[in-house]
Amino acid sequence: MTTIREIITTTAKGTLRKLLPLPLRQRLCIGLNRCGWIADDLRYWWTRELLRDYAEHDRDGYHRFLWSNHLAYSLTYEVDQRFGENKMVASRKAFISDLKSELRKMDIVPERDIQSVFEVGCSLGYQLRYFETELFHAATEITGIDIDRYAIEEGRRHLASAKSKVRLICGDMAQLDGLMDDRIYDVIVCTGVLMYLAQEDAALVVAAMLKHSRVLVAISDPGYPEFDNELLESSHIREYDGSRFHNVDAMVNTAGGRVLFRRWEGNRLVDGQRMYVVFAKK
Ligand SMILES: C[S@@+](CC[C@H](N)C(=O)[O-])C[C@H]1O[C@@H](n2cnc3c(N)ncnc32)[C@H](O)[C@@H]1O
Repeated sequence: MTTIREIITTTAKGTLRKLLPLPLRQRLCIGLNRCGWIADDLRYWWTRELLRDYAEHDRDGYHRFLWSNHLAYSLTYEVDQRFGENKMVASRKAFISDLKSELRKMDIVPERDIQSVFEVGCSLGYQLRYFETELFHAATEITGIDIDRYAIEEGRRHLASAKSKVRLICGDMAQLDGLMDDRIYDVIVCTGVLMYLAQEDAALVVAAMLKHSRVLVAISDPGYPEFDNELLESSHIREYDGSRFHNVDAMVNTAGGRVLFRRWEGNRLVDGQRMYVVFAKK
């Protein structure tokens, strides 16, 4: 049953959204995020509530705004919560284990033969740091791009103090092809990131990753709960956060790539997510 308190809260939120223009509410959200004394979940809640209409009429703009300003779901992306093998979540460990096996199947010794790695949506650079210290020992070029300037700056500071080779760039993956210029990397990784773009834009990122990779492109995105993502005729909205379930297999094929390995686990939850992994090459 709806309580009086819930009715008052819903009315207050609706009135605030009507009274305050979106740019003002966006600035409010950024200011709110600077108030470290307010609990994370409360800041997250207010941000989502103040921008609910934005999320409905411009999903991609909404995700870009949140990530590029380190708001809402990006609040847990902090150095002390992400760097180190013991902080790596189970789904990423499984992904990396698949990646190692696939490289070995190609007669590639990851520790010896991989010279360069690029990560799309690298956040603070913790996955790249893991690659540097635990997997791709011979890599001389380890670079990542992310739209979240705060994460890039915090990550750079941490990586510099660890004397890491990892290089972080702030940028939008929608411009990936141009940003990568004519550079080619042995391995390109993209985990939990394509979901924040519309189908056509995500497909362009997949095409750019294939174009700029030598050995393989390794992608992980949310698995569609009802059936295998490769059967999706078009991308579906994930109700819970407005991100998307994509058919990455189809994007690879359309870009002229070849799927080497795939995993869809609709019935098993890892870190609360269904795994969908696609490794491909041009
Ligand atoms: C769910 S996090 C995943 C981070 C990391 N890849 C991992 O697997 O732990 C999504 C990341 O994608 C980044 N991102 C979202 N939209 C982006 C865009 N348009 N361009 C570049 N990075 C973006 C976010 O800033 C965030 O770091």
